[in-house]
Amino acid sequence: MKPVIVVHGGAGRIFKEREEGSRSGVKRAALKGYNILKRGGSALDAVEEAVAVMEDDPHFNAGRGSVLNEKGEVEMDAIIMDGKNLASGAVSAVKRIDHPIKLARLVMEKTDHMLLTDQGALAFARAMGIPEVPGEKLITERSLDRWKKNLEADSNPQEFQKDLGTVGAIAIDSAGNVASATSTGGLTNKLVGRVGDTACIGSGGYADNDVGATSTTGHGESIMKVVLARLILFHMEQGKKPQDAADAALNFMKTRVGGLGGVIVISSSGDWAARFSTKQMSWATVKDDELLCGVHAGERHRQSVEEAMSSMGS
Ligand code: GLY
Repeated sequence: MKPVIVVHGGAGRIFKEREEGSRSGVKRAALKGYNILKRGGSALDAVEEAVAVMEDDPHFNAGRGSVLNEKGEVEMDAIIMDGKNLASGAVSAVKRIDHPIKLARLVMEKTDHMLLTDQGALAFARAMGIPEVPGEKLITERSLDRWKKNLEADSNPQEFQKDLGTVGAIAIDSAGNVASATSTGGLTNKLVGRVGDTACIGSGGYADNDVGATSTTGHGESIMKVVLARLILFHMEQGKKPQDAADAALNFMKTRVGGLGGVIVISSSGDWAARFSTKQMSWATVKDDELLCGVHAGERHRQSVEEAMSSMGS
């Protein structure tokens, strides 16, 4: 099987001045994951590391750069899933760690559970030796500014919610295993303790070697109502190709609950799609040593892996 990785940097509205940063961020993440796959690494390692790259990148709403809750704190959700055995691990409302996706993987591999939240997740992180970082390390000037603006009497919270930016990755490795990983800071000025779609299996992501894998982004409450990730795989089980399955599920979410979002999808034969019903979604994929990426509907930039690596200075 030829390895393939697809990543997204979130569906929503990407302001002009952030477009280039978002595009290079997804490219860097896709290249990181692809290099792991090319060396014979697993899909699980590839998606975890690709997401960790975006958690470090302040252009995205995950890890450093996460949006703030109503109290001005970062609370993050993440999920990872292994298509080989349907094992999955997730964390919700976690604070003060750099890489929620790595903690989600530890939940999957080191506990009998699938989701740990808030203080329990933090205690588990400590027990696993994950260093705690000062909360401010994850807060950018931009997220602080948006949080403050949202508290103003004449603010329109809906405006900020269009700027989403969850990150995710899906991959198939040379052994034919698929995996999915998703990580987010959630919604700007969300209530303390709000858990979104990202932490919920079947909503924020899903992976099953028999069908394929997907990672979702968009309005979490809408995604949860239609269980978007699993719905896409359902359509694929019924014979739809990744692109048609993605479009059918996104269209259902829009018409049934008025929700917008975006998805990346891969089938067990390595066909892939990146689709969105929002204005934009940054995405990138690498297959056959060729990188494709885009931000706007219909946009596809093509580069060889070699070219892309040298243009990014790696
Ligand atoms: N999809 C990210 C969130 O709503 O939390």
